Amino acid sequence: MNGQTDGKRDFLTIWDLSKDEIENLIKRALELKSGADKNKCPLIGKSIGLFFEKPSTRTRVSFEVGIYQLGGQSIYLNPKEIQLGRGESIADTARVLSRYLNGIILRTYAHSSVEEFASHATAPVINGLSDFHHPCQALADLMTIMEKKGRLKGIHLAYIGDGNNVANSLVEASARTGINITIACPEGYEPNPDILDRARSSADAGEIIILRNPKEAAGRADVVYTDVWVSMGQEDEAEKKKSKFKNYQINSQLLQCAKKDVIVLHCLPAHRGEEITDEVMDSPNSAVFDQAENRLHTEKALLEFLIR
Ligand code: CP
Ligand code: NVA
Repeated sequence: MNGQTDGKRDFLTIWDLSKDEIENLIKRALELKSGADKNKCPLIGKSIGLFFEKPSTRTRVSFEVGIYQLGGQSIYLNPKEIQLGRGESIADTARVLSRYLNGIILRTYAHSSVEEFASHATAPVINGLSDFHHPCQALADLMTIMEKKGRLKGIHLAYIGDGNNVANSLVEASARTGINITIACPEGYEPNPDILDRARSSADAGEIIILRNPKEAAGRADVVYTDVWVSMGQEDEAEKKKSKFKNYQINSQLLQCAKKDVIVLHCLPAHRGEEITDEVMDSPNSAVFDQAENRLHTEKALLEFLIR
């Protein structure tokens, strides 16, 4: 706010939080969900900006509602309506906005834009999705697994589909919390190799397996997860990707290979009939709408933790 960086914490990737911090945030999010501290308003008198280069339903609305519920003000910044869109630099924008705002949530194409912004901002920066990471989604995913399965360590999670931003953050979140993650994807669509290497060398990591056969991945899964085949910004590759991924759909046949009490997660928005069928999305195994709700609770816990 005043140009001081002392003590500022950003949340750009899962690694920005320790294992204990993640566990405490999930505990706090579960408390908030249960209605605890309804009248506690730690953001009173504080303003948080949301700068989004890409569309959003869940991230934007859950953050704006969460900020309001915590007593703060949210300000949505459309790239077309601020000077950044006319060529003002990321660095200057970050410096100036930090003089007004107590925190900034960014949704960008290049992950380097989030990093550059955070390196010049003196207010905490939260990554609300970049081409490489979606850490806020991963927090809600962990909360949902904890809520439904009662633990994280030792859980078997099968991610079926594209090794994209959601998969990268899920690999990191799994490695931080001891979840065993198996990713089934076509060759060439694995999560980022540097992210896989770092995750594998994490002290708390469980198994991190990449394979090709979705049924094999689902075989011992407690949780089956998918995301769209074509992420925002990849529209030019849509036809190619849809044909590459056609055997990577979560459908009833695939679920039959998993445990009876398997839960199905999807970060949403879903392309029903592509990566997931209606039958599975709307089945009793599906926890996708609880997962979407949990964005609100985990983001409130995160804001309480980061915004001073
Ligand atoms: N899951 C997620 O981030 O959704 P939005 O793109 O709607 O924010
Ligand atoms: N992988 C998707 C996630 C959307 C929340 C995308 O980046 O479009």
